[in-house]
Amino acid sequence: KTNFNIAVLPGDGIGPEVVDESIKILNAIAEAFRYKFDFTYGLMGAEAIYKTGKPLPDETLAICRASDAVLFGAIGDPSFDNNPDAKVRPEQGLLKLRKELGLFANIRPLKIYSSLIDKSPLKKEIIDGTDILIFRELVSGIYFGEKFTDEEAGYAYDNCRYHRDEIVPVVHMAFQEAQKRRKKVTLIDKANVLDTSRLWRKICKEIAAGYPEVELDFMFVDNAAMQLILNPKQFDVIVTENMFGDIISDEASVIGGSIGLLPSASIGADNALFEPIHGSYPQAKGKGIANPIASVLSTAMMLDYLKLDQAAEKLRQSVEHAVDNRYVTADLNNQQPYSTAEVGSFIADYIMYSEKSYYN
Ligand code: IPM
Ligand code: MN
Repeated sequence: KTNFNIAVLPGDGIGPEVVDESIKILNAIAEAFRYKFDFTYGLMGAEAIYKTGKPLPDETLAICRASDAVLFGAIGDPSFDNNPDAKVRPEQGLLKLRKELGLFANIRPLKIYSSLIDKSPLKKEIIDGTDILIFRELVSGIYFGEKFTDEEAGYAYDNCRYHRDEIVPVVHMAFQEAQKRRKKVTLIDKANVLDTSRLWRKICKEIAAGYPEVELDFMFVDNAAMQLILNPKQFDVIVTENMFGDIISDEASVIGGSIGLLPSASIGADNALFEPIHGSYPQAKGKGIANPIASVLSTAMMLDYLKLDQAAEKLRQSVEHAVDNRYVTADLNNQQPYSTAEVGSFIADYIMYSEKSYYN
């Protein structure tokens, strides 16, 4: 297959700016490798609420369902965050999209670029060589359990539930990837307190029996928060439930020096969505200072998913080339910062000129 329908949801804040760079780069890849990407844009998030009243309009959902992959920017807007009475929120759009598309596994790789090692808040010796792959369950748990608020009584709850069928697929995926890596899976849970965690442990043990070459260990989430900072190298593949994964992956994201570098993939049986880990960073909107690399590396994960391995490899090399040459935005180089668009163009140009097939 060489023709692909890509749904593009730029979203809020810096989302549109970073997604623009990914599109620029996909166009370069299309030309260099002779693929065809058709882009269909959809509204989502605060942008969609302002224009349609809904954070995820039906039309957007239809565009996503019909796509080979979804490229997503960011979501969130301060005018909603500071308004506790808001009836609809941008985030609901993303949660609904994940649920509707059945995106059960959120994959967040963390790698350290040696040329950026001094950007990390942690000591070089601690982080050098860190390489972690986080699998976060994405469509169940406390995020999607029954919620209730009784304002008058001053009472509210959020129910955390898991069914075996919601745990098994993401755990299998984690083991399969671990087989290709250092062969270690760590389940992060709170099995000393929570029934759902005990269910996760039981299922992980069962599944581990089918992967005898992979080592499985367990870590309580509070200890894991500490271990990630003390000794991140001990981790290979992490698998965890929805909310622990949300928290742990933000913590892990600062180890490499900038959250602006980290991509993610959300995978379901029939659909997949690719987005940076960072949020909408509204203070930077329109200033051309946002780091596009997280979006660009999310695009590389999309190319992996579409089985365009050579293009994915080329894209990652090109990002490394930009990073190693300090052709990066202000978060990584405040002496000589380049703009969002300059970084995107540098990567796109490098792909075009270094890809031999372009001349053939
Ligand atoms: C993320 C975000 C979302 C989440 C928000 C925006 C709903 O923080 O993708 O990690 O909590 O899952
Ligand atoms: Mn998060």
